[in-house]
Amino acid sequence: MDNAGGGLTVKHVLIIDFGGQYSHLIARRIRELEVYGEFVSHTIDTDNLLEYVRESYGVILSGGPASVWEGKHDDIIKLIIKEDKPILGICYGHQLLARALGGIVQRSHKPEFGPTTVFLKVRDRIFKGIPNSFIVWMSHNDAVIEPPPGAEVLAYSHGSPVAAMRYGIHYGIQWHPEVAHTSYGMKLLSNWLDIIGAPRVWKLDIVVDKIIEDIRGVIGDSIAVAAISGGIDSTTATLIAYKSIGSKLKPVIIDHGLHPQGEPARSIKLLESIGLKPILVDASDMFIEALKGITDPEEKRRIFGKLYAEVLEEEALKLGAEYLVQGTIYPDIIESGGRPGASIIKTHHNVAGLPRNIRLKIVEPLKWFYKDEVRRIARKLGVPEEIIKRQPIPGPALAVRIEGEVTREKIDIVRRADAIVREEIENSGIQERLWQYFAILLNSKATGVKGDNRAYGYVVVVRAVISVDAMTASIARLQWDLLERIASRITSEIPQVTRVLYDITSKPPATIEWE
Ligand code: XMP
Repeated sequence: MDNAGGGLTVKHVLIIDFGGQYSHLIARRIRELEVYGEFVSHTIDTDNLLEYVRESYGVILSGGPASVWEGKHDDIIKLIIKEDKPILGICYGHQLLARALGGIVQRSHKPEFGPTTVFLKVRDRIFKGIPNSFIVWMSHNDAVIEPPPGAEVLAYSHGSPVAAMRYGIHYGIQWHPEVAHTSYGMKLLSNWLDIIGAPRVWKLDIVVDKIIEDIRGVIGDSIAVAAISGGIDSTTATLIAYKSIGSKLKPVIIDHGLHPQGEPARSIKLLESIGLKPILVDASDMFIEALKGITDPEEKRRIFGKLYAEVLEEEALKLGAEYLVQGTIYPDIIESGGRPGASIIKTHHNVAGLPRNIRLKIVEPLKWFYKDEVRRIARKLGVPEEIIKRQPIPGPALAVRIEGEVTREKIDIVRRADAIVREEIENSGIQERLWQYFAILLNSKATGVKGDNRAYGYVVVVRAVISVDAMTASIARLQWDLLERIASRITSEIPQVTRVLYDITSKPPATIEWE
């Protein structure tokens, strides 16, 4: 995080991602150790990447699915080494570093996957407080066979003659210190942070206080609106802004007519319990009208997003607002190819689907934080647990859980089915283990028998998934009697539905949402 533009100034440790499945986890671990971890993909523009390197305390090269022989990353690694910042290579990053410094990487005679014992050869500072042998998590086919000339081999395992090495200010380790299965993983990362002299200043309380001050400085006497969806991100962002500017912040909830049952009334009540007084804008007729006849999912999303921004902008201008507070979080920015920048004011565009030409300056108090950090901040600020634990609802809400055209009848059906799914799952007490659980309404119909008559009705799909970050998801193995109860209630309480299906597809290949 740089100094440009004033605002939050915290020097980072840079995590360069080579596509490893645990790369984000490295950044999160560094932050748990109270150092700001900045995450960038190796694919970004080289000048930009090297600037990140120059601004850092040190650089971590992540794991990745490639093989070093492909030579794909040799050039960039050589440029990074030239910057003379301390490097820690992890897994593939270790192999890249070793090869760039003149070591030999080959297919291991004993590929290692899963728990593996490593043995120390040298009691380097990076192993302070760590025993001479311990269990780590490995995941590699290739291994560093010969260390670079001048490097010291620090540890080995049965499949990795150079499981850890030091070359001047650089370290490489074959295992994954960031995963929970590796013993002393956090200790090793902490030792490395001490070695490179990174001070522990990423303390959420202090950082949030600084952000509150910054927002006050930026918004001054102007008015800001905050669009609240009722979820944790927008609520927390709003609360931070409220702490900055008090009643000059106008929280707004747009009723688009596609909320789940009981919303937005429940959100309003919860927000009022923490001192926020949201303004409810009823735009439901406009949304339903705009979606009439639209069947393509992307088109639905586009129309929804555009109208949402228009309604919000109009309301903001009515309130005399100059600023818009948004709940964008760090992964949203990284995924859209941006970087948070030091200033509280947006430096990138179109992250949350807002059009570029919106006539409001965007304030993003959460753009530096991962979701787990947002949860911690939310708890500290007193956001109710019900909001913190609430399952995510996609921006276009029920519009993407209704296959085909969105009509009032279909909204009513999916909303009632969804309420039954929620109620039954919550009554069974398993909701804490699930990432999301909801109902979808298909466009197709199926024959059934209701009373003594044949019925030709709608098909409802029940979806329940387990996930840690929504990037991947597995299906929840719900009990048969729970599923049966859900199906029986949906078909008996909603006359238009004749059939209920359970979605047994994980992500990938499916997504969590239907459309
Ligand atoms: P998918 O369906 O891509 O969803 O597996 C991953 C997670 O993101 C949520 N989701 C959205 N959230 N706007 C949002 O704010 C959207 O348009 C949107 N689409 C999907 C989804 O509920 C899941 O948690």
